[in-house]
Amino acid sequence: MSDQETYDACLWALEMGYRHIDTAEWYENEVCVGKAVAAFCKKSGISREEIFITSKLKNNRTYSSALKDLRASLKRSNLDYFDLYLMHSPIGGPSVREEIWSAMIDAQKEGLVRSIGVSNFGVRHIQEIIDQNVSLPTINQIDLHPFMRHPDIVKICESNGIVLEAWAPLARGYKFSHPSVIKISKKHSKSPAQILLRWGIQHNHVVIPKSVSKERIQANSEIFDFCLSEEDMNELDGLDEYLVTDWDVVDTP
Ligand SMILES: NC(=O)c1ccc[n+]([C@@H]2O[C@H](COP(=O)([O-])OP(=O)(O)OC[C@H]3O[C@@H](n4cnc5c(N)ncnc54)[C@H](OP(=O)(O)O)[C@@H]3O)[C@@H](O)[C@H]2O)c1
Repeated sequence: MSDQETYDACLWALEMGYRHIDTAEWYENEVCVGKAVAAFCKKSGISREEIFITSKLKNNRTYSSALKDLRASLKRSNLDYFDLYLMHSPIGGPSVREEIWSAMIDAQKEGLVRSIGVSNFGVRHIQEIIDQNVSLPTINQIDLHPFMRHPDIVKICESNGIVLEAWAPLARGYKFSHPSVIKISKKHSKSPAQILLRWGIQHNHVVIPKSVSKERIQANSEIFDFCLSEEDMNELDGLDEYLVTDWDVVDTP
């Protein structure tokens, strides 16, 4: 997304009632996200506290680099704190991950972030944190949609109270013409995108669809006036084909 697209998309979404924005150091759009949030708060009188902003640490290096990078992200976003801060990936190996996680725990104690979590963590990475007997992540943000269900990761997260957040909840649009998606979409008079988002919501995933289009941002929020049946959910559940839409680092050592 260009700077203008980021700014417009965030502002439109906030005006439509969205209250959650997912950004990251890696996306190079924290500046424009911050500008859109500030503009929205000023225009609407709604306080920043009512908006939930997530950012992510790009590089897993050292304890002090993690805190430095977090402060730089906050500065770019022009924010005092993030609602959620994620380790963007498990890359770096066990000891680096342990060091970064302890920096994130300290950042939370310091009030720089309200919640801390991880992204693209596989079973082994989640198990590692459990074994360290420290605070667990509140969230694991992974690619999650009917065509990529990560059942083992979902299981370990759910059994440890870690919320699943779905990136690419629309499978990036690659499967909108799958016959099952089309059939269920016709049955409910909803678009394929709305069907995929509803599937995520009914599995208790936090869904974070991306769009640069005002119409599609609006449509993606209109998913609370219908329900997929058990039969629909079962059919969509059966579509898992380990579809990688972007990157896949859940098995990284
Ligand atoms: N943690 C990670 O490693 C990671 C990785 C990837 C993404 N993410 C996060 O997850 C968010 C979403 O993931 P994503 O962007 O990869 O995939 P996505 O949300 O599944 O799909 C986005 C694609 O779908 C299109 N789209 C959106 N709404 C649509 C609709 N109603 N009808 C038809 N097409 C529609 C968008 O095009 P238009 O923009 O043209 O509408 C875009 O091409 C990202 O913005 C990012 O914050 C995180």
